[in-house]
Amino acid sequence: MTHRRWITAAAVAVATVAALNTVPATASRPYDPTAQSLGALGLRHKLHVGTAVDMAALNDANDPEYRRLAASEFSSVTAENAMKWESLEPTRGTYDWAAADQLVEFAKRNRQSVRGHVLVWHNQLPAWLTAGVADGSISKQELRELLRRHITTVVNRYKGKIWQWDVVNEAVSDPWDTPSTLHYKGFWAQNLGPDYIADAFRWARAADPRALLFYNDYNIEAFGSGNPADDKSQFVHDMVKGLLAQGVPIDGIGSQGHLGTQYGNYDTLQVTAALKRFAALGVATAFTEVDVRSELTEPGDSAEINPRLQASAANFSVLMKACLAVRSCLSYTVWGFSDRHSWVPEWFDDPPQGMATIYDENYQPKRAYHELKSDLIFAGPPYVLPRVAPRPRG
Ligand code: XIL
Repeated sequence: MTHRRWITAAAVAVATVAALNTVPATASRPYDPTAQSLGALGLRHKLHVGTAVDMAALNDANDPEYRRLAASEFSSVTAENAMKWESLEPTRGTYDWAAADQLVEFAKRNRQSVRGHVLVWHNQLPAWLTAGVADGSISKQELRELLRRHITTVVNRYKGKIWQWDVVNEAVSDPWDTPSTLHYKGFWAQNLGPDYIADAFRWARAADPRALLFYNDYNIEAFGSGNPADDKSQFVHDMVKGLLAQGVPIDGIGSQGHLGTQYGNYDTLQVTAALKRFAALGVATAFTEVDVRSELTEPGDSAEINPRLQASAANFSVLMKACLAVRSCLSYTVWGFSDRHSWVPEWFDDPPQGMATIYDENYQPKRAYHELKSDLIFAGPPYVLPRVAPRPRG
């Protein structure tokens, strides 16, 4: 080899090492990808693998493993509750930033990106707000102004520190709601009409020109009939298309990914197709709240538990593979990483559900964890290429 070719070869090796985020393997110390975290493995694809963080667990001195894994295993974090309006402004006019600030600091210390969750949602609103609207002491006009101020205040506080904001969450109904024809649902649509969605994105953009602004929803992992009257993915697709046509600064569609093993669910190619259809609008995509719950069975009954663990792992993997296949899919966030701290048992109790995360209650990695890891390890060119992020829309 000529000197010049050696230099080229060395440069390629260095670049490869940088891209793989690893040190070179040696005979005495072979490269072992299974020893890498999900976060590190994801970064090889420029994919951020994140988790929602429960601040009480993070601060529990008797539960150090929670903090250790939250810090080491993921390259992105989301506040499970700390950035919701009821947490930030429990009393009208008085913001309590302590928990949200703490998460942003934690992320900075651990070199993690932050998904901001959530600016506009019909749940977990402060009681003073919903009561004021209900008793008429807050007028519609005042409500709109309160929303504008809230978005501006929160986005401004974390300007430059949030990678992706969930600006509007769960604005669209489901086919099982009444009426069954899909429609804009909930507190904000009822009180302000659907225009609040465009307003919210414009207000968020005015406060932070650099954050990627997302619409976030569940039950949009795959397309169905293609009729927006009963296909929620199609409804959301058409909604975003319409917003973009009006020049609304929306940069991404977040698919929550709350699945259950008792349902039919989707295969990798269906989910890939859905992400591609969203991406064709010119927006980024992300899985933002992935968990795969099961109906619980007799404790310790392995004949029942094993199929659930396998089905859960398979569904986690379907979403991961689809995300890897589509370059616009920027992040894959799990909604809690351990069954010790998961919203599922609290929210789905009839029949009781659980086993929804990638680590068990003792922080032992489950089959789902290993499947995600192997998806990240075995993915590569030409089918899986690094992510490409859009520029935030002006
Ligand atoms: C959930 C939290 O995990 C719970 O701790 C809380 O009691 C209720 O909200 N979709 C969302 C999340 O966008 O904000 C929800 O989080 C789960 C469903």
